[in-house]
Amino acid sequence: MIDYLRRLIETERFAPHGYCLQWQPELIWTHVVSDTLIGVSYFSIPFALAYFMAKRRDVQFGWVVWMFAVFIMACGLTHFFAIWTLWNPDYGVEAIIKALTAIASVVTAIALWPLLPRAIALPSPAQLQRVNDDLRMRIAERDAAIEALRRETTERLRAEEMLRQAQKMEALGQMSGGVAHDFNNMLTVVLANLDRARRLADAGDARLHKTLDAAIAGGERAAALVDQLLSFARRQPLQPTPLDPEAVVRDVASMLERTLGQTVDIAIDVQPDGWRIVADRNQTENALVNLAVNAQQAMPGGGTLRVTVRNVAAGDAPDDGPAAGDHVLIEVSDTGVGMPPDVVERAFDPFFTTKPIGQGTGLGLSQVYGFVRQSNGHITLKSDVGVGTTVRLYLPRAGG
Ligand SMILES: Nc1ncnc2c1ncn2[C@@H]1O[C@H](COP(=O)(O)OP(=O)(O)OP(=O)(O)O)[C@@H](O)[C@H]1O
Ligand SMILES: [Mg+2]
Repeated sequence: MIDYLRRLIETERFAPHGYCLQWQPELIWTHVVSDTLIGVSYFSIPFALAYFMAKRRDVQFGWVVWMFAVFIMACGLTHFFAIWTLWNPDYGVEAIIKALTAIASVVTAIALWPLLPRAIALPSPAQLQRVNDDLRMRIAERDAAIEALRRETTERLRAEEMLRQAQKMEALGQMSGGVAHDFNNMLTVVLANLDRARRLADAGDARLHKTLDAAIAGGERAAALVDQLLSFARRQPLQPTPLDPEAVVRDVASMLERTLGQTVDIAIDVQPDGWRIVADRNQTENALVNLAVNAQQAMPGGGTLRVTVRNVAAGDAPDDGPAAGDHVLIEVSDTGVGMPPDVVERAFDPFFTTKPIGQGTGLGLSQVYGFVRQSNGHITLKSDVGVGTTVRLYLPRAGG
């Protein structure tokens, strides 16, 4: 082996390759230029491949690419050596380089063939794009389904909550209605007898008179309370008539302007060509007064009480609006202290109040609620602490 190699690198016996070409410049230079260009090109290819592999570490069969790089490099080297042997007869070294190139070529060629079916099986960019598009479509479908489910769940929770609230109101209404009805009968007896005693005591002493007056005043206050209770319990006889809501709102507002004080601004916003409603006039006014008083009490430092009136056609109602039919929306909003969620939840309950004892009966909103429901209307309340409160009354359109 040593002997073989030694004989390979012996050069004395040979002439350089240029000698065979008789040093003819055209031949020599055509060889030199061509071999240089081929060698440089071959050398540049492995660099391009190496750069590609460095950037794309996810490429499959990367080792084949490296083998290809070695093979091309070896080919380039043989061309450079062909230039060298034009002047230096190192044919042995050239043979060794050629042999190494041969090994690299054969190994690469052998490795390449079995790889072909697997390379062909790799998905093409177009196929990948299709799969991607398909996947994207499925994700969109799934997102839409989740969204629909979420909406449905929210809707169901809202319906359940409304049902619970309606059941609670129904039970409270029945109970307070029953109590108020019986209490009313007793009050009638008490008041009638007090009145009779007052008449009989006409000739008597003034102190008895005063005492009876105070008793009658107390009885009348009790009767007013019972009235409110009855209207919540929907046992109050109502006299629904067609009304112009704008006229009612303006009447109430002009009365409120005198009572609400200078700190509260009243803004009225009425849509032209508004519809008429069917409702009991007194109770409608009563409801507006109740809401306005609540608003004023919620704005001790002043603010704006806004009353908006507009038509709400069937099917055009907001999410929390009435389910069917044409309505007129009377919205009363304030810029007051607002209510935390637990107060909002109970605000319509009879006797629920956050005001100190003796200052609120807690019947205001429950009365409004009872009136609206009894008038086949719809009521909603929205409130945010520090922002304000909005109560919406939807009353049915006259002739609708
Ligand atoms: N506009 C409002 N801003 C903030 N809180 C309000 C408003 N309206 C009602 N509330 C809250 O709801 C509770 C119940 O109101 P409701 O009108 O039924 O009773 P009240 O005002 O306390 O007493 P009453 O009206 O019988 O004098 C109030 O105590 C208050 O806490
Ligand atoms: Mg009130």
